[in-house]
Amino acid sequence: MTRLLVLFPVLCLVAACADGTDPDATLDVDAFAADLWDDAVGAYPGWSQRGAWTTTPVPSQSHAGDHVVAWYDDAMIAWDLQGTAPDGATAVKVHYDSATATEPKAYTVMTKVDGFDAEHGDWFWARYEADGSVTVAGSVGACTGCHGAVSDTSDWVYGEPPA
Ligand code: HEC
Repeated sequence: MTRLLVLFPVLCLVAACADGTDPDATLDVDAFAADLWDDAVGAYPGWSQRGAWTTTPVPSQSHAGDHVVAWYDDAMIAWDLQGTAPDGATAVKVHYDSATATEPKAYTVMTKVDGFDAEHGDWFWARYEADGSVTVAGSVGACTGCHGAVSDTSDWVYGEPPA
């Protein structure tokens, strides 16, 4: 019995305790984050902005000291922030040291992956340093904890710069 009790958490870990709410264990988070660097950070200069965003970095509400600009892909732009964002919809937030800095210091990305993490709106989150190294990726508690404030209103997406 003791052995079973010890074994259970191990088996649970291996099987990712697939209860329908845990992140999809079949998704290779590192590989996905590497692709997302190319597909999102490599592509956002051709994307659009929404709401009151402009190309001038504004002080972020989420990262004190950082100035940010957000970019949204076509799927994000076509979506009206009502209901659920479409699979693949992606946003990139570019972080700068100041409003006048020209070189980004980091990037945060959210992309919709249907079936990845139902408990947190099926968003995959990632933060990259300027050189592309991954700080965090996957179902990230820090990201979902804060974006959860708008989970019901606009599917975890803020959509606008801070007022
Ligand atoms: C403390 C709260 C907070 C945390 C933590 C946070 N965010 Fe955000 N996020 C915001 C706010 C507020 C905005 C709107 C712009 C701003 O003020 O920076 C935003 C905007 C964004 C955007 C632009 C898309 C949108 O929502 O309109 C992306 C992408 C993003 N965050 C990704 C992330 C990722 C990835 C993480 C985790 C590494 C993260 N955020 C952590 C609050 C947060």
